Amino acid sequence: MTAKTLDGKAVSTRMRKGMREEVAQLAQAHGRAPGLAVILVGENPASQVYVRNKKKACSDASIVSFSHELDESTSQQHLLGLIAELNANPLVDGILVQLPLPEHIDPETVIEAIDPGKDVDGFHPYNIGRLAARIPALRPCTPFGCMKLLEETGVDLYGMEAVVVGASNIVGRPMGLELLLAGCTVTTVHRFSRNLEAHVRRADIVVAAAGKPGLVRGEWIKPGAIVLDVGITRGEDGKLVGDIEFEEAAKNAGWITPVPGGVGPMTITMLLYNTMAAFRTHMGEVS
Ligand code: GUN
Repeated sequence: MTAKTLDGKAVSTRMRKGMREEVAQLAQAHGRAPGLAVILVGENPASQVYVRNKKKACSDASIVSFSHELDESTSQQHLLGLIAELNANPLVDGILVQLPLPEHIDPETVIEAIDPGKDVDGFHPYNIGRLAARIPALRPCTPFGCMKLLEETGVDLYGMEAVVVGASNIVGRPMGLELLLAGCTVTTVHRFSRNLEAHVRRADIVVAAAGKPGLVRGEWIKPGAIVLDVGITRGEDGKLVGDIEFEEAAKNAGWITPVPGGVGPMTITMLLYNTMAAFRTHMGEVS
């Protein structure tokens, strides 16, 4: 292996330590700590783990979390009613609705019901639009975390060829917008794209977020490229694997994220960061 490891776990630990201190100062200055409401509908096991981890991270940072665990059969109307209450609650700075939602609930309607100033996932069309218009407000956590990791390399990103594999609303699309904002030449490759290999081969930065283990072959990675793997799939042996063949890719890459311990921990770190940013705005501090 010649690549340097982009250690998301270490970056997260450092950032969370800093944020814990900042939260203490903010609470002192404003008489209360930032508050995050976390809504989980149903019993998706992966979502239950994510939500538990998010609440634990809040508690470690002394951010107050308000937990709302709703039955699978909860109506959309009931969920929208809860969001309206949380929008109006002055102790709540951030609202997170864990996705996916049950089939009978429309995720777009739910996301658009959240006050954009409390949308700490950064999924509301207002926040996506702000990012697209180069005036970012609350930014989607996983792409934002990827940008923090790119910053860690110290590499000047202007003019770099960036290839994003995957075009989801949560990762791929906002990732492309982040990289464009950072001055990269961006290509988004998706399920209808032809010749994934040719795109990856010319990339200075590869971000893989397709959720398909081994989709990106290690031998395709350009020498010295920065490689970020957002994919996390549990293999038959119980181990977590990314979208990129790690061992082979690490022979060519300049920098690479491991799975687990790369991009994963950064998502929750940026959620805490966004919650603090929303709190500051609500407290009238200029952001
Ligand atoms: N489901 C998978 N990733 C996410 C995320 O970042 N936020 C929310 N709310 N749900 C998710």
